[in-house]
Amino acid sequence: MKYLVLMLATAMADMTTPHIDTPMTLPAQELSFARDVQPIIANRCGACHNERTVLPNLQLYSVARANGYRLKSVMNSKRMPLQNITGISDIERSVIKAWVDQGSKK
Ligand code: HEC
Repeated sequence: MKYLVLMLATAMADMTTPHIDTPMTLPAQELSFARDVQPIIANRCGACHNERTVLPNLQLYSVARANGYRLKSVMNSKRMPLQNITGISDIERSVIKAWVDQGSKK
């Protein structure tokens, strides 16, 4: 666990400040990973969930789709982002959950 925390700290240290462009409403059309979900995950989760850590790299479509149930679960429980370190809006939580409910479209 010590190792994991150290690794996360290192991964976050070289992260540039993310551009956070929060959607204000749930988009009316069917949600797409590339257009709607990936930017949220990159901004809110990517500091820890990336290719440099042992955590699932949820920025990849295949990984996010395979973890749909877990994504919904941590959005509902608000367990992620861990200690809300990156912040996330209620709309962003809803976008991630609705994307899973709609069948995780690319
Ligand atoms: C500060 C680092 C950090 C951030 C930011 C972060 N996570 Fe995590 N995440 C972790 C760690 C560490 C674990 C593994 C330990 C645990 O489960 O508590 C984890 C585990 C998970 C898991 C698997 C655990 C489970 O209960 O199913 C999911 C899914 C997840 N994170 C989703 C997200 C999502 C979605 C976001 C962004 C909204 C996010 N995380 C942001 C650090 C982070």
